[in-house]
Order: sequence, then C-alpha cells, then structure tokens
Amino acid sequence: MMRLVYFGSGYVGQVNAAVQASKGHDVVLVDVDESIIKSINSGKPTIYEKGLEPLIKQAVDAGKLKATLDFRQAVKDSEVIFICVGTPSNPDGSIDLRAIKSVSKNIGLVLKECVDNKVVVFKSTVLPWVPVEMKKYIEKITEQKISVVMNPEFLKEGLAVNDCLNPDSIVIGGDLEGVEVVKRVYEWSSVKPSITGLKEASLVKYAKNSFLATKISFANVIANYCDECGLNAKEVLRVMAEDERINPRFLRNGPGFGGSCFPKDVNALMNDMKGDLLLKAVLDVNRDQYKQMIRLAERVTKLEGTVAVLGLAFKPGTDDVRESPAIKLVKELVNRDLKVRVYDPQAIDNAMKELSGVTPCQSVGECVQDADVIFIPVPWPEFNNVREYSPAPIIQGHPLIIGLNVFTLGAFSF
Ligand code: UGA
Repeated sequence: MMRLVYFGSGYVGQVNAAVQASKGHDVVLVDVDESIIKSINSGKPTIYEKGLEPLIKQAVDAGKLKATLDFRQAVKDSEVIFICVGTPSNPDGSIDLRAIKSVSKNIGLVLKECVDNKVVVFKSTVLPWVPVEMKKYIEKITEQKISVVMNPEFLKEGLAVNDCLNPDSIVIGGDLEGVEVVKRVYEWSSVKPSITGLKEASLVKYAKNSFLATKISFANVIANYCDECGLNAKEVLRVMAEDERINPRFLRNGPGFGGSCFPKDVNALMNDMKGDLLLKAVLDVNRDQYKQMIRLAERVTKLEGTVAVLGLAFKPGTDDVRESPAIKLVKELVNRDLKVRVYDPQAIDNAMKELSGVTPCQSVGECVQDADVIFIPVPWPEFNNVREYSPAPIIQGHPLIIGLNVFTLGAFSF
C-alpha cells in the first residue's frame, strides 16, 4: 500500500482520494478551505456524488483517509503527490493556472527539504506545455531533478465514483521511474495503463473532451435541421449510430453541452491552436443551442403566461449548474417577461444563486401546476411522469432519452 496525497478537493480530488483509500492506500486530502477539511474528517463529502458518502465515511472510520490544511506534513509523509486543483477559464478562454502554480510552489518548497524519490502527478486538466513548465519551476525551487507525471482524469460528474472504480482507460505519461510508481497506485484495477509521454498524456484529455463535444454539436446540427424540415431526428441519429464506427454515445441532441469541463476544455484547446476553426464551430453551435427549445415551443404556443422549467443542472445526476444550458434557457424566459417556475431534484439551491425573478418549487407537481408550457431541458428520470400533473405542451431538450410517450408533436423530433 502506498502513501498518497491529493491537493484540491473538488470532484476529482474528493472522489479519487476516497476511491484510493477504499483500495487500501493511505490517503491525505489537502485543501485551503477549512470547512471542507472539517466535513471530510467527519465523514461527509462536500459535493453530491452517488456512492461517495459511504466511501468517505468508511475510509475515514478505517483511518485510511484524512483531510488537512497542513500541506507540509502531508507532502513530507507521502510517496506520490497528486495535483487536482481547478483550472478555470480566463476571460479570453485560456486556462487560469494560479492554483496550479501556487500548489507547485508549495510542493517545491517542501521537496527542497525531503525529495526521497517522491513523484508529482498532475491530474488537473492542463495543456501539454504546463506539466513541462511546472517541472522546471519545481526543479528550480528544489535545485534537483523531480519526477513529474501526467495522469489525466476521465470521470464524469454524477457517475464519478463508478467511473473512478471502473475506468475505461488509465493514462500515465512521463519519465520511466515516475510512471512505474504511478502504475503501482492503480495495481488494483484490471485496466492495463496506457503509457505515453508527459505532453501526450495532457493532450489525450483535451482531445477526448473536444471530440465528444464535437459529436454533440454535430448531433445538434443534424437534429436542428430535422426540426426545420419536419424529419424525425431521433430516428436519424439512432440509425446513424448503428454503424460501429460511429456508436450512439455522446450523439444525443439536446440543449447543448455544459458543465465545468467541455466548454472550458474546448475553448482552451481552440485558444492554444490559435483559434482552430473546427473547435470554434463546435462552441458556436453550442452557445445558442438552448434556443432551439424556445423555437420549438413557439411553433405550438404563443409562449406567454406561466412556464415551468424542470431540470436546472448541466445534466441529470448532479447538483452542478456550471455552464448549464437550462440556466441560460431560464434567463432567456425571464427576459421575455414570462412567469417562470423552476424545479430540480438536486440543483435548486445552486441554481437559485444564479437566477432571479423565478419561483423555486419543491416538486414536479408544484412546478407544472397551471403552467402554459413545460420545458424539460434536463432529463432527470423523475420527470417521466410529468403528464400526470399537467396537460400543458411539453418541450424536451433530450428527445432521445425520455418522454416519447408523453407528448408527440407532429413531425418534430420529440
Ligand atoms: C466530461 C467527460 O465526459 C469526462 O470524461 C471528463 O472527465 C470530464 O468532462 C472532465 O473533463 O472532467 P462531465 O462534464 O461530467 O464529463 O459530463 P458529461 O457526461 O460528459 O456531459 C457533458 C455535457 O454534454 C452535459 O451537459 C451533457 O448533458 C451533454 N451531453 C452529453 C449531450 O448533450 N449529449 C450527449 O450525447 C452526451
């Protein structure tokens, strides 16, 4: 068993720390936020993620996981140091590296006194030149060679624990010695790690997210065209995806992709490529895709009075509303002076921090009661029975997933 430290307790840090502790490693989670430290040490995650709470509780009770503000001691006691801090977007679309630099500096200052073959691993999503620059930066502080490895994270929010326990692939890039150490961290997994160069491992993450985002924008372009011409988009996409070379995953049309990753990562890669036209088009399509729901609504109704919006998270299964198309939709409806009622099984509190002029509801029934139109931008399973509560027209963002029996609108792609 190995001694691991994780810097940063967002989705990636908390979930990885809990999963590795459940596999028997001794894990310390470092953060600068004292409330997170207290919460983890009392066995409670600070994010909603299916299966995370029992995992953290068991690991803390078993003494396998603890959280601390004391990064010095944590680094001194560790064999492998994972950096999982956020890399948000700057206003120009590039990535904000302040947290990465600050953590790298702190790690460097401790390693100066106690290198003993510790390996520094980047899990944060960073462009290929970043781990190379950070390696130089840390080595300048320590005045000795440091093993730096890139081990990108592919977990999905809402399915994070399962993705982490059963990864599709494990990518480890860097110098041979460092790679061998990180391979041991994942010895419990049946997946054979893919070994690459340091920079290649960083780019794999951006390339994967950008490809999946491209698939979604493509599906949306085809579906919008179908809506325009009165074709059944669901049928076209389903049959197209029967080709093994294409496959149905991430080919679901809807109100556009959101979340803390796809928009940020495609933007960052496009920027680093000096404005690549394909990636620019993917983002351009996505920016206004939520409006397709409004266009469809206007075909069947005047869009006035009271509207209900079911689902506010950026996708089902999460309380995260970052870059959520549903939030963009609600803001647009409010701007049109409609009375807007909103409901989400998990994300209502986070959403209400972003919204004003709307009525938050506690249930599907309360939200749709007397509504003139019901929008379902996020296909939470509990919205399947919405028809029991209201006869109003239902405009769905993800026609491939739910509600095909709920409301059929002529030739449109519902
Ligand atoms: C995404 C990737 O799927 C993960 O592999 C990656 O680790 C993560 O970003 C990250 O970079 O950290 P996530 O943002 O959690 O994961 O969510 P996804 O399930 O990928 O969905 C992203 C967005 O695309 C959501 O808004 C979703 O509703 C939308 N989507 C997804 C579609 O509109 N259509 C689809 O067919 C699939």
